Amino acid sequence: MSKRSQGVPLSFLMLDPSRGTGPLHRRLYERLREAILSGTLAPRSRLPSTRTLSRELGLSRGTVEEAFAQLDAEGLLERRVGSGSTVALPEHSRAPRSTRVRGGASSARGAGLSRRGRRMASDVLPPEARDVRPFTPCLPALELFPAKAWARAVARQARALVPERMLSGEPEGFRPLREAIAAHLGPARGVRCDWRQVLVFSSTQQALDLTARLLLDEGDGVWLEEPGYLGARVAFDAAGARLHPVPVDAQGLQVDTGRARAPRARLVYVTPSHQYPLGVTMSLPRRLALLEHARASGMWVLEDDYDSEFRYATRPVAAMQGMDAAGRVLYAGTFNKVMFPSLRLAFLVVPDSLVDAFASARASTEGHAPVLTQAAMADFMEAGHYVAHLRQMRQVYAERRDALLDAWRREGHPALRLGEAEAGMHVTAFLSGRRDAQPRMEERRLGARRLSPLYLGRAREQGWVLGFSGASPAGLRGAVRELSRLLE
Ligand SMILES: Cc1ncc(COP(=O)(O)O)c(C=O)c1O
Repeated sequence: MSKRSQGVPLSFLMLDPSRGTGPLHRRLYERLREAILSGTLAPRSRLPSTRTLSRELGLSRGTVEEAFAQLDAEGLLERRVGSGSTVALPEHSRAPRSTRVRGGASSARGAGLSRRGRRMASDVLPPEARDVRPFTPCLPALELFPAKAWARAVARQARALVPERMLSGEPEGFRPLREAIAAHLGPARGVRCDWRQVLVFSSTQQALDLTARLLLDEGDGVWLEEPGYLGARVAFDAAGARLHPVPVDAQGLQVDTGRARAPRARLVYVTPSHQYPLGVTMSLPRRLALLEHARASGMWVLEDDYDSEFRYATRPVAAMQGMDAAGRVLYAGTFNKVMFPSLRLAFLVVPDSLVDAFASARASTEGHAPVLTQAAMADFMEAGHYVAHLRQMRQVYAERRDALLDAWRREGHPALRLGEAEAGMHVTAFLSGRRDAQPRMEERRLGARRLSPLYLGRAREQGWVLGFSGASPAGLRGAVRELSRLLE
């Protein structure tokens, strides 16, 4: 090994391309990250240049460069032009970064954590919004929430708190809520299920976490949309899965690519109705191909239907779950985006064959969601307020989207191109060829999220995810103007 590594033994980085799966840059990145988190590579230790390392490991320079760039983005390496890369100091790696996925490396180190614990501690999601900013993605129009109708439902259920209701609830969820969800999903989303298949969670994240633990062993392959939702990446990474990024194009997930790269993957995470973050809808041939591959290979399909009730020009596209004859699809949805984020209610519809396993796992993990909140939600749905609220928000978000598009036509910066905006609560803005134009502080003030961290591999596009549902049309117009100014 090179003298410049100053005695750090780097032979453990040798990869055998003929063994193991996943892109080489990802495998190199994982080994380096593990070494940094475990302290094998101490803070301040100097790494050889990418040129030296690529020669010594027999890898292409680009492969090493990608691994280093990812570690740099996560705050685990410090790179300086001319003086190479050093392992970041603990303080540095804990510095807040608006969009990094992993962090907290120093607190994980030496704390007696398990391997799984270290992964969990270092997979830090960007914090959920604590205030309303114009471009915060997935933020509902909180000021228009029907608070009175909700208060009445809560009060009614609080008054109905007879002793039997005060006993512990069922781990699968409060039955009237499960029934209300099943009754809603049929006509609204084309989901075919019995109420017994519906399990109540506090968030999609909780449902993803339990799914990962229940269905995956360490090292099992998972296809992830590339780019895709960080919450899914974190849940499957924490479970020790081997992550395979599968590109998304105008027709959605490239099923053929996934099949070629990881034919025996155990699970695929998809957002077919409205891909996060690109906004495309998965085409019918791709849906059929994915279901067929799942049936033939025994792969599970986790369909995350997080915001698809909001579709503006046409009717909502039916869920893939309704087309699944082989019982391979798990369908996730959340109330935290349609109602309000602090509600903490979401659900998962599982195939018949998994109902008992999920029920036991719920019981042996967190038990169940608060019964009073579940009862109020069921009441709100049964009284018709949920559907009415959805209908009103569809109109409000359509107006907000139009305001954004209109402001964009007049004042949007020419270096930014907007993606699909047919549905949902956000649109993605792609930046053409100006990699240096990522003003971090400002993007935080506007609430926009950077696109590049949503890529597991090298980011093919730079840009931002712009939410439009949480701000008034005037607020959005101002934000478009400010974003354009930032790019000048
Ligand atoms: C694709 C996707 N799934 C799920 C969620 C979140 O749902 P929950 O708050 O219930 O975890 C989001 C929100 O940002 C999302 O973008």
